[in-house]
Amino acid sequence: MTLEIRNLSKFFDSVRALDDVSLKIPDGSFTSFLGPSGCGKTTLLRVISGLETADSGTIHLDAVDLSNKHPSQRNFGVVFQSYSLFPNLTALKNVTYGLECRGWDPKRANARAKEMLDMVHLVDQAHKLPGQMSGGQQQRVAIARAIATEPSVLLLDEPLSALDAKVRTELRQEIKRIQHDTGITTIMVTHDQAEALEMADQIVVLRDGRIEQVGSAQDLYNNPKTEFVANFIGSINTLRVTSGADGVPFFGSQPLKALTPMSHDAVLGIRPEAITLSTEPFQNVVSLPATVTTVRFLGNFSIVGISPDCAPDQILTVELHGAAATAAVGNKVFANLNPDHLRELQS
Ligand SMILES: Nc1ncnc2c1ncn2[C@@H]1O[C@H](COP(=O)(O)OP(=O)(O)OP(=O)(O)O)[C@@H](O)[C@H]1O
Ligand SMILES: [Mg+2]
Repeated sequence: MTLEIRNLSKFFDSVRALDDVSLKIPDGSFTSFLGPSGCGKTTLLRVISGLETADSGTIHLDAVDLSNKHPSQRNFGVVFQSYSLFPNLTALKNVTYGLECRGWDPKRANARAKEMLDMVHLVDQAHKLPGQMSGGQQQRVAIARAIATEPSVLLLDEPLSALDAKVRTELRQEIKRIQHDTGITTIMVTHDQAEALEMADQIVVLRDGRIEQVGSAQDLYNNPKTEFVANFIGSINTLRVTSGADGVPFFGSQPLKALTPMSHDAVLGIRPEAITLSTEPFQNVVSLPATVTTVRFLGNFSIVGISPDCAPDQILTVELHGAAATAAVGNKVFANLNPDHLRELQS
């Protein structure tokens, strides 16, 4: 089912936690809310679930207006960061509990709970109490419990953040598989860009309660609109460029004739792997004479810092892979920037 959020705003006293947020979550999609601490991710998720009320705006599931419906009437499955299992109930009972509360007869609830635990590969742990299970196992029980009632939307608030790195990576795959197999429309909050890039079909980048940009992982990586998005998803070089005579852009003292004229000063972004180094200047690109200032060898690639002669303070970072990964501090080089990979970024 498609979830549509229109013009949601929410204040906590004077803090504007959500500022006119509008968004479509397509049926069957995996959407991630991504952003730094305090940007409003949890608040948005809680407003969607009905645990929090917005000051203004609406939430529709297909044609149905949910805005004034109690959480229990929304039929959403919710999993939070901290393990929210009942400590005195076994894994199986934790899953059957919600079903029995909804009036399922115990036998049917038991069969469904076993099916769900099987889906998260925990059938053999069904008899255990939460305290006897690992963090990753507890989160899988929480997911089984949330999905058991066949919710129309699954809401996950940083479900992996309390787990260690290895378990996190395994569970990413697991959650993705479950989402794919069940086809359930899913929203997951995270502040981990790698998690969002790997799992989500649609990433919503939030900043100070506002949507900064929405798109697929590829969209956001290849066409970030702002410096914030460009730096939040991967890393990027920013070139502060001024508009000179006839609109020729200047980077420090060097005119960039390979670029189309611009009528205003701008910030241009380019990813570290989109810059190449050479001993002679390349034609038809921005080719900047520069000096290598740092080299970090990282096995299959190196991260090289260069200081352009035209703007020595604006150090650029270059990622060199494989055989190209040869540079030494002090080398005089040309840094070649293909204009197709230079993007104007808003601040
Ligand atoms: N119950 C509350 N009372 C007062 N202020 C709140 C409350 N909940 C959230 N806020 C404020 O609203 C803003 C957004 O908070 P929110 O919890 O949604 O951020 P978040 O993106 O989930 O952050 P984190 O990554 O740290 O979980 C913050 O400034 C926060 O301090
Ligand atoms: Mg949060």
